[in-house]
Amino acid sequence: MSNNRIHAVVSDIVDGIRNALIKHEVTFDEYRAGVMYAVKTGEAGEIPLMLDVFLNSTISDIENAAYGGTEGTIEGPYYLPNAPVIPNGGEIHTYDDDRNVPMLVRGTVKDLQGKPIAGATVDIWHSTPDGYYGGIHNDIPANYYRGKVLTDSEGRYFVRSTVPVPYKIPDQGPTGALLEMMGGHSWRPAHVHFKVRADGYHTLTTQSYFEQGDYVNDDCCNGVRPVQIKPDVLENGEKVIENDFQLAPDVIAA
Ligand code: DHB
Ligand code: FE
Repeated sequence: MSNNRIHAVVSDIVDGIRNALIKHEVTFDEYRAGVMYAVKTGEAGEIPLMLDVFLNSTISDIENAAYGGTEGTIEGPYYLPNAPVIPNGGEIHTYDDDRNVPMLVRGTVKDLQGKPIAGATVDIWHSTPDGYYGGIHNDIPANYYRGKVLTDSEGRYFVRSTVPVPYKIPDQGPTGALLEMMGGHSWRPAHVHFKVRADGYHTLTTQSYFEQGDYVNDDCCNGVRPVQIKPDVLENGEKVIENDFQLAPDVIAA
């Protein structure tokens, strides 16, 4: 980032904050309380969480407008780069659990002209049936509830797993308290994460959500875009999440 760009961006951020302070006639005591809240957020290690909750989805929107292709959304904090490769048609590792609802994740990867991309990596991760992530929570192994599948010669992928559930972001610290004071909550709707990569294309980071799912219209992270909400399709008792991804070239159009 050049010094000119830092100057331009930071000046406008400061102007935006100044305008909000003026609009609401924020007092010195309120300002001091805000500074202390920022300190508390830092001490709790929640600066990334706080910023992501409010701002990450805006960065995704900017990237969507810049590149085109399938609409991306927030990555969240639980992506791990070394997920196991799952054969096309295979199964992501999951625990046997009475709460498991089988899920089929399938679709294609194509370029903006609709030409299939063979050998694209579709990296998938999602929660357990009780809302935790492999390699992150509760000693669940890092190779569970996540996997990479490579598209075949016609750009197709499919893999089996289990349906995730709504997830509560850490809510015991300053971020959760702030969301609650604002009349909100700390829940994300159930979602499946994707990172789709192919040589020469802009990496797509996105999520799929479940139609009519709890919080799908009220995500604490503002990470849901309408095209990412998938219709309720059941095939032989399996919930189908289908995505025909379109990858944009890895250059921003002039
Ligand atoms: C958070 C967790 C997620 O699984 C996600 O998709 C986005 C955010 C979080 O804990 O902040
Ligand atoms: Fe998530």
